Amino acid sequence: MSKRTAKDAHLPVGECVTQVQDILRQRLCHQRLPDKPEGVESQHRHLLELLKRTAIHGESNSVLIVGPRGAGKTMLLKCVLRDLLEDKEAQKSLLQVHLNGLLQTDDRIALKEITRQLHLENVVGDKVFGSFAENLGFLLEALKKGDRSSSRPVLFILDEFDLFAHHKNQTLLYNLFDVSQSAQAPIAVVGITCRLDVLELLEKRVKSRFSHRQIHLLSSLTFTQYLERVRTQLSLPDGFPDSRFAQDWNDGVKTLCGDKSVEEVLQRHYNSSKDVRSLHMLLMLCLSRVSVAKPAIKPADLLEASRLCFADAKANMLHGLSILELCLIIAMKHLNDVYEGEPFNHQMVHNEFKKFLQRKSNSMYNFEQPVILKAFEHLQQLELIRPVDGSSAKTQREYQLMRLMLDHSQIMEALQKYPQCPTDVKQWAMSAFG
Ligand SMILES: Nc1ncnc2c1ncn2[C@@H]1O[C@H](COP(=O)(O)OP(=O)(O)OP(=O)(O)O)[C@@H](O)[C@H]1O
Ligand SMILES: [Mg+2]
Repeated sequence: MSKRTAKDAHLPVGECVTQVQDILRQRLCHQRLPDKPEGVESQHRHLLELLKRTAIHGESNSVLIVGPRGAGKTMLLKCVLRDLLEDKEAQKSLLQVHLNGLLQTDDRIALKEITRQLHLENVVGDKVFGSFAENLGFLLEALKKGDRSSSRPVLFILDEFDLFAHHKNQTLLYNLFDVSQSAQAPIAVVGITCRLDVLELLEKRVKSRFSHRQIHLLSSLTFTQYLERVRTQLSLPDGFPDSRFAQDWNDGVKTLCGDKSVEEVLQRHYNSSKDVRSLHMLLMLCLSRVSVAKPAIKPADLLEASRLCFADAKANMLHGLSILELCLIIAMKHLNDVYEGEPFNHQMVHNEFKKFLQRKSNSMYNFEQPVILKAFEHLQQLELIRPVDGSSAKTQREYQLMRLMLDHSQIMEALQKYPQCPTDVKQWAMSAFG
């Protein structure tokens, strides 16, 4: 027999579980970029090719990456940058500026951030510029190489690109695209957005300077591919220290994916969103239920995780309310039915509640007016009800117009699960009219 290699090592279960959690968490919690982004190979190639032309050959360019939330836009760009920087030439000369529409909310802030990221604060000093274009031009000029023959290529990445279109006169966009079209300096402008109609947002003079290159990330995953992805995302890699454990784990994952109930749950997730981010969320919840006592993912774990994913936040909040508060919500629901969604005030809700109480002989729900008002205010604090816009703050609290921020199904779902909800309250909620 040959010597035992590290691959054959048999580790205690506890250690294996820790390793599994480490590896899968890294994969599911976005700490590590995938070596090869799955399903977007052609987009990867396209973008890499484009950016290489700027980084290595000094050509200017502009491109938009468009796709829904969680489709992998940021991941694609990061992968491309990682692969691009493997090139020595690119590594040496390429400069990057990362902007985000959520952070740089106007062009003045954006320009400051560009200056900072290019380390040009000292060069700019106290200089005053006539226009935005002049300022940007100065920055790009300052980046010229020692012999001043050519400029260093700069990559401008604009995440949440559509938000930049709301800036005054679209000055930043106009100037960046303008430079990318002229031979002024080699720059590439990469916009990332989830708005498919983003070009409609651009002013004519901005639009005409854009290259109209777009890279779309629209998931065309079939359900079979989706299932396969679940399997690969949960499987352990070849290099796992305990190969026997890894084999068992991977077999378990295969069995899991073949399970009928699991397939149903995944079908529901597939139908509601195909993006990787929400899939990772689901799998992460499954993983958190793995322990030394149960070193595998069982169908029940997936069912429970799915329940958590689909839980309605507001319906959940209702479980924490008192019976009185719940009664007020039901009274509002009835008011909504009767007045077809018109806003209501505290007094109307109280009257509706009184009508319910009058039909009952016992006085278990005998509340003083201030107590009811307090409950009403609590509902407002939880933002389950909201004052109607424009209703004057001067109005007495009891008469301020409110709207219910819940729909019927949320209320009924919450009532079903409310611990020991009195039957008469339930019946009242279900009755057609207060
Ligand atoms: N093809 C893929 N292969 C592996 N992982 C992916 C893939 N697509 C997306 N992911 C993962 O899904 C998660 C979400 O992706 P990412 O953050 O890139 O989405 P996004 O399109 O930028 O979303 P947003 O519009 O919200 O910024 C990331 O953790 C990413 O690693
Ligand atoms: Mg992103």
